[in-house]
Amino acid sequence: MVKQKIIIANWKMKLDMPASLALAKEYQVKFKSGTEDKEVVVCPATIVIAEINKILAGGKIWLGAQNVFWEERGAYTGEISVKMLEQAGCRYVIIGHSERRQYLLENYQMIHQKLKEVLSDSRLIPIVCIGETLKEKEAGKRDYVIVDQLQQALGGIQLLSQQQVIIAYEPVWAIGTGQVITPLDAENMHEIIRASLVDLFGIDIINKQFRIIYGGSVDSANVAGFSELDNIDGLLVGGASLKAEEFLQIVKKL
Ligand code: 13P
Repeated sequence: MVKQKIIIANWKMKLDMPASLALAKEYQVKFKSGTEDKEVVVCPATIVIAEINKILAGGKIWLGAQNVFWEERGAYTGEISVKMLEQAGCRYVIIGHSERRQYLLENYQMIHQKLKEVLSDSRLIPIVCIGETLKEKEAGKRDYVIVDQLQQALGGIQLLSQQQVIIAYEPVWAIGTGQVITPLDAENMHEIIRASLVDLFGIDIINKQFRIIYGGSVDSANVAGFSELDNIDGLLVGGASLKAEEFLQIVKKL
């Protein structure tokens, strides 16, 4: 089954507010036409999401958030609910990025709770991040780690028939390092991820409701290697999404 490719820009905390708005305006102009066959998403810092929603109005780019909390409302200082993200204009939300796992000690129990909340209470589409560290890879534990992360995040989750989920495979050692995975290795990993998802949900749901994307040091120079692979439904792009023209080239070449 051919799925529409999705390319997601994750701006992380790399731009201040004026720079975020300026880049959103550039995106809006650059992505006016020529990329209709792909789905393009931008995930800016939470504080500018509502403003960027106005900039992107009427255009072809979807909006996403970089994080969300697992409760609907209450005394949770500093947190943002799924409802708030929807009200601000989001259609997507990243869950469990490895930087949050590393610096904020987010674990897969929290990631599971976030995923459950997103799927139970909103029309947001979750982008669930998984990926092994260099240490795990060198110890030969890569496949085990990936399958375990998937089971912890997704085990016991019930999906309604119209709900979509995106799994982003982002090897931690490839994020922001310029050390990109070989396309063949990415394809292998995506096959393992797919098989593991089929175990959890069955083939039908995986074919219709899941997309598996890759992230980690993708740029316009190496993206072509990912374009012909069967099991890669899209990309999650960090650094190379901070320049509108570079990101446009990635989208066009995938
Ligand atoms: P880079 O593209 O900068 O390696 O970042 C990848 C990433 O973490 C996207 O979420």
